[in-house]
Amino acid sequence: MKKKIILTGIRPTGNLHYGHLFGACQNWLKLQDEYVFYLEIADVQALTDNFHSPNKVHSNVFELTSDLLSIGIDPKKVHIFVQSQIPEIAELTVFYSNLVTMARLYRNPTVKTEIAQKKALFGNDGESVTYGFVGYPVSQAADITAFKGELVPVGEDQLPLIEQCREIVRKFNSIYGEVLKEPEPYLSKTPRIKGLDGNEKMGKSLGNAIFLVDDEETISKKVMRAVTDTQKIKKDDPANPEVCMVYYYHKLVNQENVDVVCEECKKGARGCVQCKKELIEKMNEFMKEIREKKQYYREHPEEVLRILENGTKEARSVAISTMRDVKKAMQIDYFERGE
Ligand code: TRP
Ligand code: SF4
Repeated sequence: MKKKIILTGIRPTGNLHYGHLFGACQNWLKLQDEYVFYLEIADVQALTDNFHSPNKVHSNVFELTSDLLSIGIDPKKVHIFVQSQIPEIAELTVFYSNLVTMARLYRNPTVKTEIAQKKALFGNDGESVTYGFVGYPVSQAADITAFKGELVPVGEDQLPLIEQCREIVRKFNSIYGEVLKEPEPYLSKTPRIKGLDGNEKMGKSLGNAIFLVDDEETISKKVMRAVTDTQKIKKDDPANPEVCMVYYYHKLVNQENVDVVCEECKKGARGCVQCKKELIEKMNEFMKEIREKKQYYREHPEEVLRILENGTKEARSVAISTMRDVKKAMQIDYFERGE
């Protein structure tokens, strides 16, 4: 049976953290064996929010890629590519932009939420919201359809973008003929990973994230500050692990001992300091191999570059073929018609 095509993207705006790893990325590691997998480093999309910081986006393309390689994304199985280096995506974006109304874009829940966040952040009435930003769902539809993506692994917050992509595909096909593939979202079953402070979301800007590039000292400091059961004052007070972030992280990296941690905590047979130290040790164990690989890629940046270059070349050949079909359907294939 023919393998289905999976496509997903990630913005190069920072290093991977536990939220990425235990959320999306572990899912990707499984999918890479089962599907034809395109993984887009979405630098053009990152620029919609960071157009004034080209250096940040540039360096994060390499940082993010080497993070992804370090956690086990295998370039022999996954086409890792750079969005900006596939001009067909930009071309498609232009053609799709006629198929979407401004009203529909403003109604997109993801765009709506992000605009509200920007307004709150910059304290204006949205005048700084750019055309490129409002249009990014169109560009994301181009990301997906350029590679005839059938399944798109995303988090729940991205569902409105997939829906918008499906609408664009239907509209395109109804006007120009059945050329594009309507993708389906592939929701990962893993819940969102909470921050060390108990916040529902982990993020760089929230200051509650553990990054895969954090060294032992940083990990130690962060875990020592993590939120525990605030009712527990003394070392031998019984406590409730379910409200404790240290227990939450034991569940992620210390599965073999998690029942013991839970029981001892409930009985008051475990002090928080000891419990945190054990967690730190487990985290370091868990990250040992990732750190080694990351170090390797730091020392071999040319290898990361080559992987991106190859992945982009492979991906581009598919985008070129899609573009040919699209131009033919839209009757803008002037020089290939032999008239
Ligand atoms: N918008 C996605 C995010 O912020 C990243 C992304 C870019 C993406 N292009 C994509 C996701 C295509 C799925 C498909 O997480
Ligand atoms: Fe949390 Fe461990 Fe303290 Fe229990 S003993 S409250 S699980 S840190």
